Amino acid sequence: MREAEQTPVWAQESWDQIVRKVKRTSGRIQDRFPHASVNGEYVLEPAHWWTAGFWPGLLWLVYRDTKDEALRSYAESCESQLDAVISGFDRLDHDLGFMWQLTSVARYKLLGDDESRRRAMLAANLLSGRFNVKGSYIRAWNPWRPEEDNSGWAIIDCAMNLALLYFASETSGDPRYKHVAMEHADTVLEHFIRDDGSVNHIVIFDSKTGEKLGVNGGQGYAPDSAWSRGTAWAIYGMAISYKYTGEERYLNAAKRAAHFFLANLPEDRVPHWDFRLPAGVAKYRDSSAGACAACGLLLISELVHETEAGLYRKEGERILESLYSAYGAWDREDEEGLILHGTSHFPEGRNIDVPLIYGDYFFAEGISRLLKHGELFW
Ligand code: GLY
Repeated sequence: MREAEQTPVWAQESWDQIVRKVKRTSGRIQDRFPHASVNGEYVLEPAHWWTAGFWPGLLWLVYRDTKDEALRSYAESCESQLDAVISGFDRLDHDLGFMWQLTSVARYKLLGDDESRRRAMLAANLLSGRFNVKGSYIRAWNPWRPEEDNSGWAIIDCAMNLALLYFASETSGDPRYKHVAMEHADTVLEHFIRDDGSVNHIVIFDSKTGEKLGVNGGQGYAPDSAWSRGTAWAIYGMAISYKYTGEERYLNAAKRAAHFFLANLPEDRVPHWDFRLPAGVAKYRDSSAGACAACGLLLISELVHETEAGLYRKEGERILESLYSAYGAWDREDEEGLILHGTSHFPEGRNIDVPLIYGDYFFAEGISRLLKHGELFW
């Protein structure tokens, strides 16, 4: 065993708290789709919202350890409800990955359910159908308003959605999905991850010619700022691309984004929502960015030479420990969220300084990883 892989005591304590709280919260949420916890209670979203996979993913993480059948039935019901979403084409976007990875792929990996494998394949087909050969990117969204043309928009978040395509190629033996994933990953390297390791949130291409037209700040403060969750998506997403392809350029990109992220963390290791904020702009934390980045750091630590592994593992652990000890809502019976102080969308003023279901999911995934509960869902 690598010396750095001793499981810290606080990780087991933290997992016990996660299990206790998810079991309690599942009594109310059941098989619905929470996003942000406002005034202590998770606000529910429709099944087509991009966050639909995180609650069932969290249920699967806890089910894997506890075999609590109620949690399993809620997770399975969430997955079934996504069947109506997948045939409602207009509302689908590139987040097919987030949604079906943590429902169908997770269930397939845990239980070998063949219907789940087929659902994941269908989602992967729709995701690869969003690929534009001009510009080599997976289109982010469909128009939000009539007449809107966002056919040239691609976003860094999609780096995480590539896992579904790698899974599809592995499970089917058909390399086309992996080809699409790698084309998009190469576009991330060329156009999203900057030399210093910070990232663009949105890159806009001419969807007819593939020419790059510009960047958009999206959920970051400005086009040239450094949205912390976007950096976390890049760290983990590029590490996943390396895991499935063995191509060093993805590992190097994951490391570059990781080094930028780590160098810009405040003392308590939990990032502000953007790393480059001018004076006077509120520096809320985004605990979800910390949790996701920690998972990416743990994956990097598993993929690099053992002389480097300890660094990434230690930094991932430091973030998770801080989230556990200083951001956890463990003694708050009036709060459904696991970890406080996430920021969903500061520029639009939505869900600021609240628990977010993806923060809770990635926190639980990171702790479960430290405890070696089993295979990654990604
Ligand atoms: N994928 C959207 C977000 O990170 O908020």
